[in-house]
Amino acid sequence: MDSRAWDERYAASELVWGTEPNRWVVRELAGLAPGRALDLAAGEGRNSIWLAGLGWEVTGLDFSTVALGRAERLTASLPDEVADRLTWRHGDARDFEAPPEGYDLVLVAYLQLPAEDRRAALRRAAAALASGGTLLVVGHDSTNLTEGVGGPQDPAVLYTPEDVLADLAGAGLRTVRAERALRPLAAEAGHRDRGGSEDGGAVAVDALVRLERTA
Ligand SMILES: C[S@@+](CC[C@H](N)C(=O)[O-])C[C@H]1O[C@@H](n2cnc3c(N)ncnc32)[C@H](O)[C@@H]1O
Repeated sequence: MDSRAWDERYAASELVWGTEPNRWVVRELAGLAPGRALDLAAGEGRNSIWLAGLGWEVTGLDFSTVALGRAERLTASLPDEVADRLTWRHGDARDFEAPPEGYDLVLVAYLQLPAEDRRAALRRAAAALASGGTLLVVGHDSTNLTEGVGGPQDPAVLYTPEDVLADLAGAGLRTVRAERALRPLAAEAGHRDRGGSEDGGAVAVDALVRLERTA
């Protein structure tokens, strides 16, 4: 989907992903000492806002102006000390400039791109990390098509943990975790709205990869 298609999708409904942070983001990042974070393809900002609440200085980057407008409106309702830690930036994940000092955390959540574009975005994300920084990639896994529920149905934009590791080969990162993770849908806002709670144990299969820059 290009930025216009994303703008249309966001314009068609309120808070597409809800305001709660993604469960893997919470599980993996809650214990990290706050620093400077980049949320790549931040959407409406649910994960950026959660990180800023923990003390992170967060830049949320997305190419949808509609999503960023919504993120800005959410920011206006936050306490000043949290809002002041959030910066919303319009840009393309495949081709953005990072500040020379780099980020202590780069988060890439549910950015589903064709393989070549995904590789470009992930290698940019890796290059944007400061020494010792964490890269967390979470997305709809390829097996979600047959073993999970929801997410894009185009196999070309799905990926596996192994794809992410191959994309980042030689980028100077150490793998902390690379796994498939089952995400129960019943508790998630968008799925509750669509009646997902009625299908009881429905789960989505996510690819989750956590890495650290070693030098
Ligand atoms: C499924 S949403 C996920 C949003 C957010 N990461 C979250 O977890 O709530 C995917 C987001 O990726 C953005 N996106 C897709 N391709 C992009 C690109 N090439 N550059 C920047 N943003 C992109 C879309 O605009 C959309 O906001």
